[in-house]
Amino acid sequence: MAERFDVGVVGAGYVGLVTGACMAHIGHTVTCVDKNEGRIENLKRGKLPIYEPQLGEMIARNRKRIRFSTELHPLVREADIVFIAVDTPPGDDGAADLSNVAAVARGIGRSLSEVERERPLIVVNKSTVPVGSGDYVSMLIQEGAEEGPNGEVSYRVVSNPEFLREGSAVYDSLFPDRIVLGAEDREALHTMRELYRPIIEQSFATELDPRPTVAVPFVTTDLASAEMIKYAANAFLATKISFANEIANICERVGADVKSVTAGIGLDHRIGPRFLDAGIGWGGSCFPKDVRALMATAREHEYEPAILAAAVSVNERQRRLVITKLQRDLHTLKGKRVALLGLSFKPNTDDLREAPSLSIARILESRGARVVGYDPVAGKRAAALMPEMKVVFDPYEALKGANAAVLVTEWEELRNLDLERAATLMARPRLLVDGRNAIEPAAARAAGLIYQGFGRE
Ligand SMILES: NC(=O)c1ccc[n+]([C@@H]2O[C@H](COP(=O)([O-])OP(=O)(O)OC[C@H]3O[C@@H](n4cnc5c(N)ncnc54)[C@H](O)[C@@H]3O)[C@@H](O)[C@H]2O)c1
Repeated sequence: MAERFDVGVVGAGYVGLVTGACMAHIGHTVTCVDKNEGRIENLKRGKLPIYEPQLGEMIARNRKRIRFSTELHPLVREADIVFIAVDTPPGDDGAADLSNVAAVARGIGRSLSEVERERPLIVVNKSTVPVGSGDYVSMLIQEGAEEGPNGEVSYRVVSNPEFLREGSAVYDSLFPDRIVLGAEDREALHTMRELYRPIIEQSFATELDPRPTVAVPFVTTDLASAEMIKYAANAFLATKISFANEIANICERVGADVKSVTAGIGLDHRIGPRFLDAGIGWGGSCFPKDVRALMATAREHEYEPAILAAAVSVNERQRRLVITKLQRDLHTLKGKRVALLGLSFKPNTDDLREAPSLSIARILESRGARVVGYDPVAGKRAAALMPEMKVVFDPYEALKGANAAVLVTEWEELRNLDLERAATLMARPRLLVDGRNAIEPAAARAAGLIYQGFGRE
């Protein structure tokens, strides 16, 4: 029988809520804390602050083991393990802004100095933080403790980077490719292995599938290496996409089809088929910020990260390429109506952080085009962020009278767009720029659309 723990999670966002729900699902008792009172009030009433498939059901099903609160202190008194899962947005210089992590660490230190505990509190860094942050968190906990009545406090800091993907976050948390743990303390590592045992052994009940049939690898290392694993993984994936885009741009010039090329190279086990999709490029809350943060860390140590810089520059070029492709057939953008299909940074999420749709919309608006956006779930959020863009709630309404459409986010319903209906609704020249190479060019052309993909005829 696996051991049950009292788990605290600070930060009730994409990572914190999913972590909390999954920890409750595998049998632990969970308290989720957030400083945002409205968010906590809504969660208490069963209202989710984010769109994430399966998360609502998961919380509802395990509700008796999950509490929501705005108070850190009771959590520090009662929990065996506290996850820090607050946001670490990019600062002006590209480096990760650790002020939220710092506030939580100091708060934990202060609370620790006011309570009696039998065992050291395990403080787990799940937020993506630069190499060396484990020691920084330790220092801040200590500083916080010194402000309280009892400066002597007992805790262990552990790094446990998160690899979930928005849109399949619950699945990824229950069935991860690996769990990475960094710590200097063997006992803390042992406790973390016990905490994760139901996931490592895949012994919990679930209807989700496919589930792994072998044990989930539990990778233990030092703090700095665990922190680096997260950045290196995201930097590699972003670079892989930029590489595919580089190949796509060359394909376009020599008359090759990048879809065939990436399918051909992806069959090589050393390369693999995933993250080779050419198109608008990468965005979202993690890749841009993490690549920039890793570059900032490298430069702090007087190392110029040439490959990462090239990956970023190719990615920026892909955004501009959308505009070039629109101009090729629309000539001037002034007075043209352009429909943006899909606004979230990827399908199955409402997250608009660093979404390509927003930067493309801004460029189009600045060049005098009228932009109409549609997204199955992120429409309202997008309208609040970009009041200049007209947001509608039906893809065909967005297409009505549009001279061009850009498929920005490959939601399933947009992959399966009724192309003939689209062509009937659109105005000349009826251009479709397929930013994700998600639509069959021949089908689009047969429907009467001008089709432009990336790296394919
Ligand atoms: N979103 C992802 O796909 C993903 C994946 C892997 C790792 N990460 C990393 O995980 C971390 C969290 O990301 P996220 O997307 O869940 O962020 P988020 O913005 O969705 O959620 C962060 C939450 O933390 C809360 N918060 C901030 N400061 C706080 C404080 N002092 N006390 C209590 N609550 C506080 C905010 O109110 C917010 O609700 C980041 O470091 C991110 O890089 C994110």
